[in-house]
Amino acid sequence: MKIRTSGMDLAELKADVAACFAYEGDSRPAGVKNGPLARELAAEMKAETFKGNLGDIMSWNADGRFGSRRFLVIGLGKKGKGELDALRAGCAKAARAAAAIHCKTLALRLPPASGKQVVSAVRAAVEGAHFGAYHFDRYLTDVDRQPVHLVSALVSSNGSATAIRKAAALGSAMAASVCLARDLVNEPPSRLNPVAMAKVAVTEGRKSGLTVKVYNRAELVKLGFKSMLAVARGSKAAPKFVHLVYKPKHRTVKTERIVLVGKGVTFDSGGLNLKPAGGMLAMKCDMGGAAAVLGAMTALRDTGCKAEVHGLLGLVENMVNGDAYKPGDILDTYHGKTVEVGNTDAEGRLVMCDLLAYAAKKLKPTAMVDLATLTGACMVALGVLATGLFTRHAALEKALLQAAGDGGEKVWPLPMFEEYLDQLQSGPADLINIGQRWGGAITAALFLGEFLPRDLPWAHLDIAGPAFCEKATAETPLGGTGAGVRTIVRWLEGM
Ligand code: BES
Ligand code: ZN
Ligand code: ZN
Repeated sequence: MKIRTSGMDLAELKADVAACFAYEGDSRPAGVKNGPLARELAAEMKAETFKGNLGDIMSWNADGRFGSRRFLVIGLGKKGKGELDALRAGCAKAARAAAAIHCKTLALRLPPASGKQVVSAVRAAVEGAHFGAYHFDRYLTDVDRQPVHLVSALVSSNGSATAIRKAAALGSAMAASVCLARDLVNEPPSRLNPVAMAKVAVTEGRKSGLTVKVYNRAELVKLGFKSMLAVARGSKAAPKFVHLVYKPKHRTVKTERIVLVGKGVTFDSGGLNLKPAGGMLAMKCDMGGAAAVLGAMTALRDTGCKAEVHGLLGLVENMVNGDAYKPGDILDTYHGKTVEVGNTDAEGRLVMCDLLAYAAKKLKPTAMVDLATLTGACMVALGVLATGLFTRHAALEKALLQAAGDGGEKVWPLPMFEEYLDQLQSGPADLINIGQRWGGAITAALFLGEFLPRDLPWAHLDIAGPAFCEKATAETPLGGTGAGVRTIVRWLEGM
């Protein structure tokens, strides 16, 4: 979808449908010039008892008397309370509503804002419009079921034209990265196996100015990714390890070196500890961490990231064939520690531990963040909307929470209680890959931490809940959400 920007008033905007906004209690739309259109919209709001509550939407047909034929007024709820999130969601709603009535062009007149708020508002609005216009319809052959695709959105706001244009570009870059991650998660698992996903990483990475190296099975053997290779053994599809690198234009000795690590289990059957039918259905989402890392990496050039950033994707399928790894196996790892397999369904940590240890040793990062759809337990703790954040590093925790808030994602800190470490003790090996039933998200995080030096600023984001959406919202249809991308991009932007 093409984004254009403008400073024109709502009455002058030309589109199939034009949207404006109202706060709770407003009797007229915000940021619309006094005049015939504003008066008519206000009268319609009154007639419809439209109150500007969050999520409310009013549609009005102007019969061709203004630049646009149809108008939407969208409620933003209380002024000053989560305004940007409301605006992002409101613009997504407008885009979805426009497509639902077969409109191809949308105009958005944003509420008035001052100074830096203009930039944040335009950015949020553009993100929202893209999110609302997102469809995954590649496999629909019935023309009647194919959704209308918005061709363009014209975003109008007060403020400097250059600032608005720049903010819109940032919003589009962010949305493209989120939607790339969504597409990858939505792709069916037999099409997007590790080989296919590595190919996408190469094309998308290079398009975004990254260098990309893909390691095949033989190279993984040479590197010593023994734990990841054990997981991969049960599948016919070859495992791939992808290393993406972003280098900023200007580098000094002070330039940060960040490593992002993503769990890329393109399908998680559970392995020999096979998942039940209900638990397996959504398991094409188990590469959501790797998709988020790839998505975020593709935004770095456009968002002007000043850090050097490495993205590592561990791509495997957790399947069952005659060679599959077994409960009771003892695995070697890149780090050197041995791991007893208590459960083949706790495969994510076996993939991640090799990548984390490799990154710490070879790349010497100043900070490291991993993203993984790691545990059902994290969903039990936080529900489906929030990412669990685990770290022993207060400054990193603060920065990531701030970034999540700025980006409009829910991230919530969870503890890494040292007392639970003894659950990971094994008789025959150094560690076992499962703990007790309770606090499973914590023991998973603790397990990962055992493969990293304690002094390395590292955070683990468990995105098992928000990576995949089973109840559509305006911003995300069913399926992949791109969870984690916005948090990471905002965090790196803030450096
Ligand atoms: N991929 C799953 C975690 C998951 C669950 C992601 C639901 C998204 C939605 C992971 O590999 C897994 O199966 N974890 C087990 C761990 C257990 C065996 C210790 C779990 O959470 O049950
Ligand atoms: Zn699993
Ligand atoms: Zn998994």
